[in-house]
Amino acid sequence: MRIKNETTRLPRIARGRSLTVLVNGKPVTAYEGETVAAVLLVEGFRAFRHMPASAEPRGLYCGMGICYECLVTVDGMPNVRACVTSLRDGMTIEAGAQP
Ligand code: FES
Repeated sequence: MRIKNETTRLPRIARGRSLTVLVNGKPVTAYEGETVAAVLLVEGFRAFRHMPASAEPRGLYCGMGICYECLVTVDGMPNVRACVTSLRDGMTIEAGAQP
């Protein structure tokens, strides 16, 4: 998760190198060390995909690679767990639900 706003009540945030990734074709600035889930949450996604049969939304649940609720497509590879996948510069991410 990324804290977006600076505040005097929190210590200064040390971020990794700036990266650009494509989220559903849109260039987005992210930071080295963040996960795919972090960039999706910052971009306003709460549902990362929908169930094929019922169309029920699915998103971040356990946040540690156990539940498989956060599956997205990364660089053309489907069913990648967003919560345990680190960002790389130029990565393409396809999530199922636009905010
Ligand atoms: S949120 Fe559970 S595996 Fe990603």
